[in-house]
Parts: sequence; structure tokens; C-alpha cells
Amino acid sequence: MRPKIAAGNWKMNGTAASLTELHSLATGLPENPPQVVICPPSTLLFRATDATHGSPIQIGAQDCHTEGAGAYTGDISATMVADSGATHVILGHSERRDAHRETDADVQAKTCAAWAAGLTAIVCIGESEAQRDADQTLDVIGGQLDGSLPDAVDAENTVIAYEPIWAIGTGKVPSIAQIKEVHDFIRARLIKRFGAEIGNALPLLYGGSVKAANAVEIFAVENVDGALVGGASLKAEDFAPIVAALAQY
Ligand code: 13P
Repeated sequence: MRPKIAAGNWKMNGTAASLTELHSLATGLPENPPQVVICPPSTLLFRATDATHGSPIQIGAQDCHTEGAGAYTGDISATMVADSGATHVILGHSERRDAHRETDADVQAKTCAAWAAGLTAIVCIGESEAQRDADQTLDVIGGQLDGSLPDAVDAENTVIAYEPIWAIGTGKVPSIAQIKEVHDFIRARLIKRFGAEIGNALPLLYGGSVKAANAVEIFAVENVDGALVGGASLKAEDFAPIVAALAQY
């Protein structure tokens, strides 16, 4: 049985006032909640772990450097993320691959750094609209998986998030058949490389315009083990129904 995970990526949103959303989310969790991981901006990491102390909500960062410390102005290390009490870190989000020119090799190195600090890496992959239109989706996804994941992947240290770039923040969601095709492909690729035990145990999240209104049908897809949610994770009233939908699977 793979864990079900509802992860929220706040991106560059949130100030101290947003911590009340974590309180609201914690008080509204369903009876048997899935794993819930909120990834606020790094300025809020320490306070977010304080605010969720004693609740099942876990906290993650949105990136980390490959090195543990050093002369890297503006960056934060996996060691610092772990020091905040966070347990996860999102790596290789398409917004970082694009705006910060992060390559698969960078993501792989960051994943190793995250593990060394005891963090679980949420490794993101996804095709652009042009790549989908050119029928390159599975090639792109396969290449990103091969390049971004270190050999020592296991079900405790890594979560994979499939986020088609064209579905992020657009309100456009792939069809259920498209989500199923990519998630089945990812599952098969993971089994081929890491073996059946690890390949079948790795959680696969879907991300891109997930809302309460579409969560139920997305979570019903066989190889979808949860979601990585952007906009709809900022407010507890929007995210709680997504968490509740996942709790039913
Ligand atoms: P949206 O849910 O806002 O489309 O963002 C998805 C995402 O990028 C999560 O990492």
C-alpha cells in the first residue's frame, strides 16, 4: 500500500499572516487523513513547523542547494531546511527548471543533498505544451526521470510529482486518460530501473490546476497517489476539501 499524499506548494506566496491557514487546515483534517505536506516560502519554514507542531501536517521547502553550506548568496541548503523541522523539499519544479535553468543533473545532485540531510525529495517532472503537441510527452518524462533520480531512490526518501507545465496555474487539466497514460508510464519506468518492490512503492503525485472540483476523479486514477497543489493550497478552505477527497482512497 502506497501512502496517499496531499502536498501544497505555496510558491512565492505567504507572510506570517498566512500561518493561520495552517491552524485552520490542522483543525479541519478528516478522521484518517492522508499525509499532508505544506511547502511555504523559506522565510516561513521555522514558523510553519512551530505552527503545525502536534498536528499531522508536515512542512517542506521548495528548493535547496546541492551544498550543505558555503558562499552561495541567496540560497538555502538541505541542512538548513532540515534544521527548521521541515521533512520534505520540492526539487526540479518546472518554474525552477525554467527560470533558474535547473537541469536534470542539478535536480539529481539536489536530491542527494536532500537525502543526506534526512529530507524526503519531491521530484517534479513534466512536459511543455509544445512537447505534448509534438507527441514527445513520454520521451520527455522518461528522460527527466532517468536524469533526475539518483540510483539510491526508495519509497521513503522520494516522491515523484508529474506536473504538465501547461496545466500549472492555467485551469487546463489533462484528460483522465492522459493522466493515466503518463502515470502508468512512470510506474513502469520506475519498476524497470529500481525493481518491482521499490518501483511499486514510490508515491506518484499529479499536479496542475488541481481543485476540489476535479480532485475526486483524478484521485480515482490507479497510479495517482495524491496531488501537488499550487493555488488551491493557499487557503485552508480550498485545500481541506482536496485533503478530504484523498482521505477516501
Ligand atoms: P497550480 O495548482 O496552481 O496549477 O500549481 C501546480 C503546481 O505548480 C504545484 O507545484
